[in-house]
Amino acid sequence: MAKNKLQKFADMTTFPHVFQYPFAVLQEKGFEMRGRWNELFFKNTHPIVLELGCGKGEYTVGLARCFPDKNFIGVDIKGARIWTGAKQALEEGLPNVAFLRTHIELLAQFFAAGEVAEIWITFPDPQMNKTNKRMTSARFMQLYSKIIVPQALIHLKTDSMFMFAYTQAMARVNCFPVVVESVDLYHDYPSDDRPFAPTQIQTFYEKQWRERGIDIKYLCFVMEPRETYIEPEIDIARDDYRSFGRSAVR
Ligand SMILES: C[S@@+](CC[C@H](N)C(=O)[O-])C[C@H]1O[C@@H](n2cnc3c(N)ncnc32)[C@H](O)[C@@H]1O
Repeated sequence: MAKNKLQKFADMTTFPHVFQYPFAVLQEKGFEMRGRWNELFFKNTHPIVLELGCGKGEYTVGLARCFPDKNFIGVDIKGARIWTGAKQALEEGLPNVAFLRTHIELLAQFFAAGEVAEIWITFPDPQMNKTNKRMTSARFMQLYSKIIVPQALIHLKTDSMFMFAYTQAMARVNCFPVVVESVDLYHDYPSDDRPFAPTQIQTFYEKQWRERGIDIKYLCFVMEPRETYIEPEIDIARDDYRSFGRSAVR
């Protein structure tokens, strides 16, 4: 393992706003802040917003700068990536940022019902061959339903027309009201005339997609916690390009 990576892992264990638990410890003791993030960590009653698959975490940090009255938690399984945003937030002294290193599938072990107000899903792998691994599939909606408030806002930013169309269909069949939808975000919502537009800050992957000339798609919808969700059954045209860090399109 690269020395740089080892140093980052060592740093992470000392960061007060980074939470990472071996699965065995979680199983045995549970997570003490579950249902009490605001009381024990943020020390306020502001809404909690998650960025799932936050990678290097710049978007979480950027959102935290834009919205001091919300609490942001970046979630990813890759510690060396999280390190970048975690270090930045620490150096800036941002009080409304934390990072959680875990599999997204385990979210309900870290958050109680009704604890999360908003979820950002930024540039996920579209998982064109594996519906269950897609981060806006019925399976993941069910996971989110265990932790969200009623009328939670879900934001998807993606390069993938496949992922965008699939998530649109998911919103439609489950009757989730759509707040904003755009297949060319930077054309439709320039960031100059509003207090906040999702174009004001970019994730690491987003910058690379834009450099490649790929339009950024954005969907924001309102989700209700429910027992089950309907999986959309439609044929969607597959993306015809290879993605950064993703397996080749088959
Ligand atoms: C394509 S990258 C996007 C990173 C970042 N959102 C960006 O736009 O720059 C996807 C990220 O999701 C994380 N990820 C994917 N599946 C995950 C899972 N089940 N649990 C936790 N993290 C996951 C990966 O580790 C990776 O950092």
